[in-house]
Amino acid sequence: MTSNQIRELNRSVTLLGAPESDFAERFYSALFAALPETRPMFGTDMTRQKARLMEMLSFLVEQIEHPEILEPMLSGLGKRHEAYGVKPDHYAPMGQVLLTEMALTLGEQWTPEVETAWKSAFQAIVDGMSVG
Ligand code: HEM
Repeated sequence: MTSNQIRELNRSVTLLGAPESDFAERFYSALFAALPETRPMFGTDMTRQKARLMEMLSFLVEQIEHPEILEPMLSGLGKRHEAYGVKPDHYAPMGQVLLTEMALTLGEQWTPEVETAWKSAFQAIVDGMSVG
């Protein structure tokens, strides 16, 4: 990952998490359309869940050069997801939905470089969660 890609990841996560962005809302709607069996795994407070997802994504991209911080966090996150009922086969379609919704939200700011950076970042997240 180049330093420019890391900058782009941080820039895009800030845009996606901005109060006026409805990215997280759109992401979960698209996730439940693509993987309806995951809907009942979630509690009722999706507002809180949306915030947690965005906080986790910002934290992960901020710390992308610090594997000693990321590894234990991601391994814990992966174990909790197993307990939620998430299966290894859910991650690739979830990643697809995540990137598609990012592209729709970011519009022309979704450049090929940003796309490549998010593909690598998502793969690193999944690898760290020990599911891929
Ligand atoms: C494979 C698709 C995924 C599914 C179906 C899924 C599902 C879930 C579920 C059911 C919860 C618990 C919600 C609740 O307690 O109501 C959760 C929590 C959470 N998910 Fe995911 N998840 C997926 C992938 C990911 C990925 C890749 C990340 C990485 C950013 C992530 C980040 C989080 C965070 C930060 C929480 C908050 C609770 C915690 O830290 O354990 N999820 N997810």
